[in-house]
Amino acid sequence: MRVTIRELLAKKGSSPIVVATAYDAWMAGIVDEAVDMILIGDSLGMVVQGQESTIPVTLDEMIYHTRMVVRGSKKAFILADLPFLSYQSSVRDAVIAAGRLLKEGYAQGVKLEGGKRVVPQVEAMVAAGIPVLGHLGLTPQSIHAFGSYGKRAKNQEAANLLVEDALALEQAGVSMIVLENIPHALAARVSKVLAIPTIGIGAGADCDGQVQVFHDLFGFSDFAPRHAVRYLDCGQEMKQAMQKFAAAVRSRDFISK
Ligand code: KIV
Repeated sequence: MRVTIRELLAKKGSSPIVVATAYDAWMAGIVDEAVDMILIGDSLGMVVQGQESTIPVTLDEMIYHTRMVVRGSKKAFILADLPFLSYQSSVRDAVIAAGRLLKEGYAQGVKLEGGKRVVPQVEAMVAAGIPVLGHLGLTPQSIHAFGSYGKRAKNQEAANLLVEDALALEQAGVSMIVLENIPHALAARVSKVLAIPTIGIGAGADCDGQVQVFHDLFGFSDFAPRHAVRYLDCGQEMKQAMQKFAAAVRSRDFISK
């Protein structure tokens, strides 16, 4: 039996929520036991597809990866990202895209980026019975509007706007909000004013949960953002192992049974 959205909501104030991304069945199998929720993030555009941003990721690709993650896991709540342009254009597009992630991808909930401007979409998806998570602060789908992946909401005015966005999303019915790359004191303030859990990434220790990207946790990317915390350096070890294999073949020392 998988973790449910109600069980996750009940953790506010008692037990921090553990979230990691995964993008296929093997990765899902690695993280499933340890986490409460697996996010099939549109970060897959960058860490799996090698794109420069998350913008090119399509809804069909998100469905494909979500299905793989569902097949490789048994326990964790399955959250899938709504990719760029699957929800911004209209309420109808948002409900259909979210519905496809549930019907065809077998996700249990969806996440979208933005504050007040996506409230009509959130209300319609929630009315359709779909658990929805918000995402504020550094919202990678808006990279071209901001021009960098740096910290967001650093001044008082931007911080107040972010708090207003968080309250508007909560009022619209989101179950949780991801806070990415914002000042830690602001994340603590948002976590305090909301009745729903916040999930932080680069947002300090006072969020109600934390999320990390699979490739950052295990050292699979050469580049990792400043807020990434690396628990293993698998990428380097794999490159060294590959060099050993190549050297053995070239020196004719390679033996296979
Ligand atoms: O796409 C993603 O992996 C995300 C996390 C960084 C929160 O949205």
